[in-house]
Formats: sequence, structure tokens, C-alpha cells
Amino acid sequence: MELIDTHCHLTFEQLAPDIEDVVERSKAAGVTSWITIGTDSRQNQQAVELAERFENMYAAVGIHPHDAKDLTGRTLTKLRELAQNIKVVAIGETGLDFHYNLSNPSDQKRAFVQQLKIAAELNLPVIVHCREAFDETVDILERFASDVRKIVFHCFSGSAEQAKIVLGNGFYLSFTGVVTFKNAADIQQAAEIVPVDRLMLETDCPYMSPEPMRKQKINEPALMIHTAAFLAALKQMDLADFARAVTATSRTFFNLPTA
Ligand code: NI
Repeated sequence: MELIDTHCHLTFEQLAPDIEDVVERSKAAGVTSWITIGTDSRQNQQAVELAERFENMYAAVGIHPHDAKDLTGRTLTKLRELAQNIKVVAIGETGLDFHYNLSNPSDQKRAFVQQLKIAAELNLPVIVHCREAFDETVDILERFASDVRKIVFHCFSGSAEQAKIVLGNGFYLSFTGVVTFKNAADIQQAAEIVPVDRLMLETDCPYMSPEPMRKQKINEPALMIHTAAFLAALKQMDLADFARAVTATSRTFFNLPTA
């Protein structure tokens, strides 16, 4: 089995010190490729450097909505520069988070639009973070995303109704271990209607270990196998077939070479 963890934060302090072991455990579990996601200038630089060290590891660079307030012209220039590294396969994560509002909404929107423009310019797909800001996110994407190759709603945690809107716009959805939680009926209903050619898997580690490993405080790519098994069962598919399909979807989305 060859699964791709399309959204992990391998440069975060919970995982980075043991990265060799994290990667080995991941491979042993069948998760053989990774996209490590930057969230600010420092993490972006580290994500690219880490991806350069490992085969089948890639990076995405972006400014998280939490850090939108710190986005300057210089940061954007640096981002555009890094994004042209051969190992960078997407812009992100970027988007809107009105749950925490660590940056104010207008700064978040501005940073989001600026990053969509870079993605369009460099012909890279975009990884969207959206929390309690669904209508505003879709609104911006409808206005500014027509030139962007491909768009994914990462850690999708909306309803089936919202999933239909995302699909209707031609975007993709990716699911974390949250979909395996017992109180996640809404997200499970959403996952049910997403066809495998628009669905991707991710851990968003070090956060949110999937069931039955939810108690494991630090999530890691190896645990994504549980999310894969859960979604395969939900879709009444054989795990190997499901894995093959979503891996193909991820390769297409991020334009990754076939392993
Ligand atoms: Ni993330």
C-alpha cells in the first residue's frame, strides 16, 4: 500500500527531533509519501529544507490565517521565492479562521487573496484552511480562484451540504482523523458523498490522532492508516482499492511523480 499524507507538520517541535523514526514508522504502516506544510516564514523555510532531505517528501509554503497579521511585502516576496523550489508542490496553508481570530478578519482576507494570486502566478494548487468561515471562504474562492489550478479544503469538518458546495465549485476535500471520531456524524455524512477522485487523506499531525489511537497525544503519519481504513469502510470499499484511488487523486492534485 502506498498512501500519501497530504498535510502534516513534520517540522513542528513534537515531530522534528525524531523525524527519522517518524518517517520509518510511517513507511512501515504504508504511508510512503508526505507533504509537510508551512504556516509562517520560519516553518516554510524548514519545511522546504526537510523535504529536500527525504525522498518522496514534499513541502507546501503559506501563511496560516493565524499569522496573517504579520504578512508584509517582504514575507510575500520570500514566500514567492521559496515556492519555486522544486520540492514545493502547493501554496498553503492559507485561508480563514474565525474561530480563534488570532489575526483580524480583514488581515486574514487580504493574506488569503495575496496567496491565491501567488498560486495563480506560479501555477500551484492551494491548500485551504477554513474554520467557522465557510461562506466567506467560498466567496473569496469564487472571486479569486478561477486562475488557480486546484483547490483543497483541508481537514474538512463541514456538513454534507457544505461538501456539495465545495464539490460544485470543482474543489477537493481532504479528511483528517477527526472523521473517525464518535461525535463526527456530520463529517462522516460529508465524506460519504465525496467521490474518491476528489478526496484526499491527511493527518494534520502532530494534532488529532484518529480513533482508535485518539489517546496518542502526538499524532504522526503512521496513524493515517486508521483514517484510511475508516473511510474505506464508510465507502464500502476494499482498503487497497480505496488507498489506490485516493493516492492517485493526491498525485494528480499535487502533480507528484508516480512512485
Ligand atoms: Ni495544518
